[in-house]
Amino acid sequence: MVFSNYGVFKDGENMNLIEAITTRRSVREYLNKDIDSHVLEQILRAALWTPSGKNGQPWRFKIVTGKEKEAISKLSVYGSWMKNAACFVVVFLDKSHSYHYIKNVQSCGAFIQNIMLAAHSLNIGSCWIGEILSQSKNVNKLLGIADNMELIGIVTLGYYDVKSITTRKAFEEFELR
Ligand SMILES: Cc1cc2nc3c(=O)[nH]c(=O)nc-3n(C[C@H](O)[C@H](O)[C@H](O)COP(=O)(O)O)c2cc1C
Repeated sequence: MVFSNYGVFKDGENMNLIEAITTRRSVREYLNKDIDSHVLEQILRAALWTPSGKNGQPWRFKIVTGKEKEAISKLSVYGSWMKNAACFVVVFLDKSHSYHYIKNVQSCGAFIQNIMLAAHSLNIGSCWIGEILSQSKNVNKLLGIADNMELIGIVTLGYYDVKSITTRKAFEEFELR
């Protein structure tokens, strides 16, 4: 197998998991096209199988469209393109889960990644937005979400023509010897 920093596989239907992982890229330009609610549900139902510490499943999410999407976009420095996504999945940690804070946050991160991979397998683009966390109080308020839900990140979702061209460092740089 020849490894490439650009990803080895093509996009397309029926991609296997290695293809999905290596061809996903952040998408920051979206087509003006809605995502069917059944498709969205399929993505989120898949992500519910994310592992979590003691199977606590501490993530919660809200799907945001329309005026709320516009208002949240205004809170981020990336709002100018975020608002063009078909929807946001706003991901929270339910802090009433007292298990272990770091593990709970890690589980929510894995949940976000699985949303992105599931979306990609259906040819839907996404971008993980962390540049909103400083606005967490405002996001909760705007969405009417209680304070015991901690904002972890936003996933923008939408159909696309263009995805970013990113690479990765060489394999050898990661392996500690
Ligand atoms: C925790 C986290 C926070 C991120 N926050 C942002 C963000 O606020 N805005 C943005 O455009 N991309 C954000 N990204 C996406 C990264 O910039 C992107 O994943 C990285 O540059 C690699 O590019 P790729 O996803 O195309 O492979 C974030 C990614 C992660 C994992």
